Amino acid sequence: MYNISQLQDLINKEIAERQYSNTPIELYEPIRYIMGLGGKRMRPALLLMACDLFEGSIIKALPVALGIEVFHNFTLMHDDIMDKAPLRRGGETVHAKWNESIAILSGDVMLVEAYQLMMKVDDSILRMVLDIFSEIATGVCQGQQIDMNFESVDEVSIAEYLEMIRLKTAVLLAGSLQIGALVGKSKQEDAEALYKFGENLGLAFQLQDDILDIYGDPDKFGKQVGGDIIANKKTFLLIKALEIAEDLDSEELQYWITIENADTNLKVNAITNLYNRLGVRQLAEHQMNIYAQKALTALNKVDVEEEKKMELRQFAEQLLIREN
Ligand code: IPE
Ligand code: IPE
Ligand code: MG
Ligand code: MG
Ligand code: MG
Repeated sequence: MYNISQLQDLINKEIAERQYSNTPIELYEPIRYIMGLGGKRMRPALLLMACDLFEGSIIKALPVALGIEVFHNFTLMHDDIMDKAPLRRGGETVHAKWNESIAILSGDVMLVEAYQLMMKVDDSILRMVLDIFSEIATGVCQGQQIDMNFESVDEVSIAEYLEMIRLKTAVLLAGSLQIGALVGKSKQEDAEALYKFGENLGLAFQLQDDILDIYGDPDKFGKQVGGDIIANKKTFLLIKALEIAEDLDSEELQYWITIENADTNLKVNAITNLYNRLGVRQLAEHQMNIYAQKALTALNKVDVEEEKKMELRQFAEQLLIREN
């Protein structure tokens, strides 16, 4: 069994060794840049850990693991355009450093590259892996569109929010684990249990991401703190706040989410204060813990020795106390 940091080192080494000597350089330089900015490498690590639970050689799983990370970085590059985000992993976002056209096209090439890497699995599982991957990629696009739609919808329910984050975030974690299990030649039921583990972990993970967007330490978070508030993202915190705020609080919240061209600092401060008063952070944390528990219950169902599952268990626990 490999531990998390060994797997992350392996992935980082693989990424560092990749050559992008193609021209035009405007297309490839942003890829090298975003991949080199760091990141937790959580999805490829999960994929390799899932493979490692069974008979598979993790070396065989490396190209697909890399494919998943390239795909993830592609979604970040495009997400940052959509979210008008200035910062990613402590550096300038690609569209801010170059321009939007470059970020769109470099992202497109990354999606193609991700498919090329996924195709390096054994022929016996190629069709299955590509099917899962395509399902994931479509899910992410659907989730991202719903996320954008919600910016201008007044009433979004918690159930609608949960479905949106399941699509934009959780299916990628879930699918990474499922693909890892397939490469490791697991039984069908184990791959399904790992999918469930990833799906619930992904829901918990996005809830945590929404919390960090407001309460993260700007020096460690690596993204613009308050970005979700500025964009009127219907996060768990905003939906809950809209649901429970009364009288003056409710009026104030409505004021800030409807006013155009607000001073962003004032808006972030005002809404954060409202969230603090209403205690929505605690509600989000509670919901996050429910999904983390569900994830661990799904992991219990995977039919391998308890000891082998320790790394995944620990990984899940660490993710929820992260700072970036
Ligand atoms: C960011 O993912 C996008 C979300 C789904 C919240 P990560 O938090 O895994 O980003 P990196 O790869 O570690 O930078
Ligand atoms: C993004 O959700 C999920 C993706 C599919 C990239 P966010 O928009 O919250 O991710 P961050 O906070 O920018 O990383
Ligand atoms: Mg987004
Ligand atoms: Mg974003
Ligand atoms: Mg976010």
